[in-house]
Amino acid sequence: MPPILPQIKMFEDADELADHLAMDFLNSANLAAEFKCPINMALSGGSTPALFFQKLAFVPHRKNISWQHVHFFWVDERCVPPDDPDSNYGMTQKHLFDHISFPNENIHRIFGENDPEVEAKRYAKEIIQFVPQNFRNLPQFDWILLGLGSDGHTASIFPGSDVLEDRKNICAVATHPNTGQKRITLTLPVINHAKRVSFLVTGENKASVVAKILTGESKSSPAAFVRPVNGIVEWYLDQASGTVIIR
Ligand code: 6PG
Repeated sequence: MPPILPQIKMFEDADELADHLAMDFLNSANLAAEFKCPINMALSGGSTPALFFQKLAFVPHRKNISWQHVHFFWVDERCVPPDDPDSNYGMTQKHLFDHISFPNENIHRIFGENDPEVEAKRYAKEIIQFVPQNFRNLPQFDWILLGLGSDGHTASIFPGSDVLEDRKNICAVATHPNTGQKRITLTLPVINHAKRVSFLVTGENKASVVAKILTGESKSSPAAFVRPVNGIVEWYLDQASGTVIIR
């Protein structure tokens, strides 16, 4: 069956995008609460999600979201301690967890302070324990938020890396091509088995790579390999990052 075509959601600017995404999240989380089932969501790091977390952390959303049904995982993590400025978990804690009462047991962070190979195995076990598996015995996240690097990477799956070819593990150890920094990342099979995958991309520095991926021009960018098997893939863009495709 051909992959489902991406849905494009274009917003005036990063603030409007974050507002809409926060409302989408509120609706999804409260729907899960209504059916008393968890929503297993994997978050990306980098800088883009910060505004979204800030929207969730303050009124009106903070009080209107049934947090007890939300389980947060991470798409990837830098191999640094949680209090390191580079930590993706640390960024989420600063912009979200420090401002809401969120159940600790629903935070499934990647222990960036651990040995990378050991942690990749441990985190994969935690995912299997909490995230229901789909028909291919792969954990199926309800929602995965992805960022996009200007080189076309997503998660910590970098162009030309072995991780791009990994079809058997749930998590892998990656290496940043420029800094050599070790990362732990979800692999493509897990990302592509999510029910919903949302790219959050803002800023004109991403416009060219967004256009290359969405027009099919770039087939080698890791983000171009994100084609959920049975789920939806959507692109939350602002005018700056989507400028090339709206011309
Ligand atoms: C990370 C990410 C990475 C990020 C992109 C975009 O750990 O850095 O998960 O994939 O999402 O590099 O980063 P920005 O949001 O900072 O542009």
